[in-house]
Amino acid sequence: MPSQLLLSLLAAAAAAALAVALPSEAAAAAPPPAPTPWPERFHAVLFTNMTQASGGGRLKMTDLYYDWPGGRNLNLVTRQLSDDPIYDVEWTNGTSYYFNSTSCRTMLFRVGILPPDWLADGAVYLGRETVDGFDCHVWTKVDFIWYYEDVVTHRPVRWNFYTGMQQHVMSFEVGGVLEDSKWQAPAYCFNDKGAAANSTTANDKIDGEIDVMTSFLRFVGGQQTAVAAV
Ligand SMILES: *[C@@H]1O[C@H](CO)[C@@H](O)[C@H](O)[C@H]1NC(C)=O
Ligand SMILES: *[C@@H]1O[C@H](CO)[C@@H](O)[C@H](O)[C@H]1NC(C)=O
Ligand SMILES: *[C@@H]1O[C@H](CO)[C@@H](O)[C@H](O)[C@H]1NC(C)=O
Ligand SMILES: *[C@@H]1O[C@H](CO)[C@@H](O)[C@H](O)[C@H]1NC(C)=O
Repeated sequence: MPSQLLLSLLAAAAAAALAVALPSEAAAAAPPPAPTPWPERFHAVLFTNMTQASGGGRLKMTDLYYDWPGGRNLNLVTRQLSDDPIYDVEWTNGTSYYFNSTSCRTMLFRVGILPPDWLADGAVYLGRETVDGFDCHVWTKVDFIWYYEDVVTHRPVRWNFYTGMQQHVMSFEVGGVLEDSKWQAPAYCFNDKGAAANSTTANDKIDGEIDVMTSFLRFVGGQQTAVAAV
């Protein structure tokens, strides 16, 4: 009798161990979550904190309009207490225009804008973390960006760049668009003489203001090749 009891105890223990083992084995075998592709069009408002970024910096609000079908991407960057926002209009043919009310700089890149699934390719899943009060999945890509996505809604919550720049997603409007006229670079972007003259003074300053998002888009989009400041 005691040995029979022992046997059934052992059997129960084995069953319990199996029951515990199975889910964790299943979990171990499950692939890490994949980042949600971006919607083909959206408008996001980003609170940008560059105070810890290389070279220091200010706080900014950025309106990001992503328009994949339109082959274009626009960052409207407003620095704290500034009333002259900087536009960064990127076209998928590789041309980007950075301008404010008086200066313009044109850049050519070999790659276009990021596709909606840019993050999935080559991103490393780092697990879950509570960020800005949201339970998030976290991925990193080429140690350039850390990307936080809400576990429940799948919206991006935040992304941090290796430079120290942090962008917090304050709103994320799927399908949000900006009227066509706002994408148009001003005439002084196309005046060779003026643009060249202005780019000399504009370069350093505007470089610091350009949303890192831009260089990031070009980087991870494949081999950054900022060729010419026209
Ligand atoms: C900006 O980021 C730094 C570093 O993380 C942090 O100490 C600071 O509180 C942030 N400022 C704002 C306004 O979020
Ligand atoms: C790319 O497209 C933009 C917008 O249509 C245009 O202004 C620019 O000249 C084009 N660039 C090239 C290299 O074709
Ligand atoms: C260059 O900048 C000046 C003022 O900073 C502006 O008046 C001028 O229009 C710009 N150049 C061109 C070609 O527009
Ligand atoms: C536009 O940008 C240029 C270059 O950064 C800067 O010198 C100029 O002051 C800006 N314009 C205004 C109105 O702030």
